[in-house]
Amino acid sequence: MRKKIVAGNWKMNKTASEAAALIDGIKKEVADVTEVDVVVCPPFTNLQVAAAACAGSNVKLGAQNVHWEASGAYTGEISAAMLKDLGVEYVIIGHSERRQYFGETDETVNARTKAALAVGLIPIVCVGETLAERDAGNMEAVVVRQVKAGLNDLGDDLAKVVIAYEPVWAIGTGRTATPAQAQEVHALIRLTLAEISDGDTANAIRIQYGGSMKPENAKELMSQPDIDGGLIGGAALKADSFAAIVKAGE
Ligand code: PGA
Repeated sequence: MRKKIVAGNWKMNKTASEAAALIDGIKKEVADVTEVDVVVCPPFTNLQVAAAACAGSNVKLGAQNVHWEASGAYTGEISAAMLKDLGVEYVIIGHSERRQYFGETDETVNARTKAALAVGLIPIVCVGETLAERDAGNMEAVVVRQVKAGLNDLGDDLAKVVIAYEPVWAIGTGRTATPAQAQEVHALIRLTLAEISDGDTANAIRIQYGGSMKPENAKELMSQPDIDGGLIGGAALKADSFAAIVKAGE
């Protein structure tokens, strides 16, 4: 049985003091939740404050990106060890906004994933097709390519990874994939995982859905057989809506 995981991707939102207040609110609302892993992913500048706010609670901390090199002359970048040292446990990698606006490729996704795993961070690796790719009949090819290339050569560490399926056309648009549409792609991802590993590993890996998930649709999405949680953008910026989504996963 896979434990559900609901993560808030705050994107470029919230100052450090706002982050502390939001985490305080979330902590209160989800204090009794034991059946779902709860993760918040604030911007880098908030991680230290967020780590203090999360301490001793069931809210875990994630970051939104990580560089693949361990250290060195990479102005503006953040290493996996720096995140780990702050108490970060998860890191989002390959979000479609990074692929669209910041030159992220399957190769850099793979390099970042390896760097995260090397220090014991759990990568949340994002995949998903654009509307043009879906309309052209290329959804399957794109998602399978992103999974295979992004997770290439991880060995036994593959089992530790979380995958987020986020159709680009559903992110921040209010247009959610239907539960059946999402389940179809999640099943495809699990099949692909079985191809690159084995049945047990493929069955153990958690696959989140992301893209306009909200309290109203979370339960139906997360009751699909291969949907193991959510990666939440807009609805993660308020304690009550984020907590309602977490509870929908119980
Ligand atoms: P959204 O974003 O929930 O605002 O659609 C999800 C994401 O981009 O991770």
